[in-house]
Amino acid sequence: MSVKPTVIAFLKNTTYRFRQVLRDLKGASVISGKAELIDLMSQDEALLFFQQTTRDQNHAIRTALHAKQLCFDNQVDPPEFFILAALLHDIGKGDVKLIHRVLFVICNFLSPVLSRKIASNEGNNWRATYWRLQYHAIIGAELLKQVNSDPRVVDLVKRHHCTVSENDNWHKWLILADYIA
Ligand SMILES: [Fe+2]
Ligand SMILES: [Fe+2]
Repeated sequence: MSVKPTVIAFLKNTTYRFRQVLRDLKGASVISGKAELIDLMSQDEALLFFQQTTRDQNHAIRTALHAKQLCFDNQVDPPEFFILAALLHDIGKGDVKLIHRVLFVICNFLSPVLSRKIASNEGNNWRATYWRLQYHAIIGAELLKQVNSDPRVVDLVKRHHCTVSENDNWHKWLILADYIA
């Protein structure tokens, strides 16, 4: 692997994380249309959704609204599985204190390797929080599989931080909606 794409991917990811933290610190506003979107979820999915912090719930709602808008812009009816994936994409993070998120982003910026070493899935402490932040896409997909979510939702959630393949619009639009939100 050449160094250049790795550096670009790192910078993109870091910029994304810093934008998220800045938005969290500013306390982004609540959005209308939340109830209608929540109705799309099964009871089990809604339980996972509400285990997130309010700021992550609001981020998820904004992601779903941007996802819907991307469909309209491309003259496609937004399919339910796509909107659900947008709503549920970050559930693997669970309940994360803002201070932990800030420290995780700084640590990841300084040394992604160190950040991966610190993350641990043993116990229930700040290192476990790092683990969830680091691997939230896989954790979220696994949780959704356990509650029998649509396999297309599970798949999109699992890949929402992976490199997008050109011919996969749902994946591409989810990543874009997440970035804008
Ligand atoms: Fe994510
Ligand atoms: Fe996200």
